[in-house]
Amino acid sequence: MNREQTITGVICGTGACVPEKVMDNNEIAQLVETSDQWIRERTGVARRHIAKKETTVSMAVEAGRQAMEEAGICPEEIDLILVASASPDQVFPCTACRVQEFLGAVNASGFDLNAACSGFLFAYNTAQAYISAGVFRTVLVIGAECLSRLVDWQDRNTCILFGDGAGAVLLRAQSGRLYLPAAHSDGTGGSALTCDGTAAIGPGAENAGTSERKIPYIEMNGKEVFQFAIRKVPQAIEEVLEKNHLTKDDIDWFILHQANSRIVDAVARRLKTDIKKFPMNLQEYGNTSSASIPILLNELNRNGILNNGQRIVLAGFGAGLSWGASILEWKIPEK
Ligand code: UT7
Repeated sequence: MNREQTITGVICGTGACVPEKVMDNNEIAQLVETSDQWIRERTGVARRHIAKKETTVSMAVEAGRQAMEEAGICPEEIDLILVASASPDQVFPCTACRVQEFLGAVNASGFDLNAACSGFLFAYNTAQAYISAGVFRTVLVIGAECLSRLVDWQDRNTCILFGDGAGAVLLRAQSGRLYLPAAHSDGTGGSALTCDGTAAIGPGAENAGTSERKIPYIEMNGKEVFQFAIRKVPQAIEEVLEKNHLTKDDIDWFILHQANSRIVDAVARRLKTDIKKFPMNLQEYGNTSSASIPILLNELNRNGILNNGQRIVLAGFGAGLSWGASILEWKIPEK
């Protein structure tokens, strides 16, 4: 196939929504033994947004609505809604169907995808595959999380890290260059970052039916995840560049999953690339899992930092273990 000129999904609009309530590090220090200084130095996070009245659905809808508005399209034009989430409000119906209802996207089908913090990247790749195969033309891709519900607020290893929010991109089919992604999973490393689901509360679970039953929380071996991220993310970026016959110098921005500023710094160092090409906003939002990449993309877009023609690498990593990188060209239509 000629990958130079084919049908590809181009981002025509972005959006984001975070909860109103801001929780700073000092507030967390009232819950667990930690400090603002420790959290800032070890993670880069200063504050995060925590859902009170917001839900995964409500934030996904708002982010999707903004992306649609910027793209200048009506809800009826959307063919597919993909929502990446590890923290949906309900097991079913899926978040994408709720979003479809609230947006009035009556012609869209929709489904959710869970690849934890790599979720947005994997959903973006799925959308691109559908578009380049000619199956769908207009796809809304959303990453939305209410991780505060899955956090053990007595565990200082994890509660300092996460935040809630949603981000979205609206992709439309256009003729252009098709970039191949790098995407990986390694289930053998899965125990490093887990959050049990219904099996932990079902009738077969330990202490089932008693007040001793285990509430599913995020559990993490932080060091292992850290080492995995700084080893695998640079490899995935090198791989995606090679696959697409590009070099680091052809890339204007590296938009990484926002988990820890030390991870982003380490990746930039390993790639011998200027840290200025690695924008960060995790200081404001913490790790919002599948929402972090589209929230950052939206912020850069809305602040006029991205220029048409620029090439961007998106790179994600997280539970699974899962990781990968994708390339896109910024071509947002002039307003
Ligand atoms: O989306 C992917 C999700 N996950 C990640 O990306 C997480 C990746 N990992 C990390 O970001 C880091 O491993 C953490 C930020 C979670 C932890 O940082 P670290 O530098 O790996 O700290 P550590 O776990 O090695 O702990 C160092 C020290 C320990 O004390 P001792 O044993 O040296 O006396 C911990 O007990 O810091 C202590 N510590 C804390 N102190 C204050 C651990 N957590 C805290 C805390 N506040 N919150």
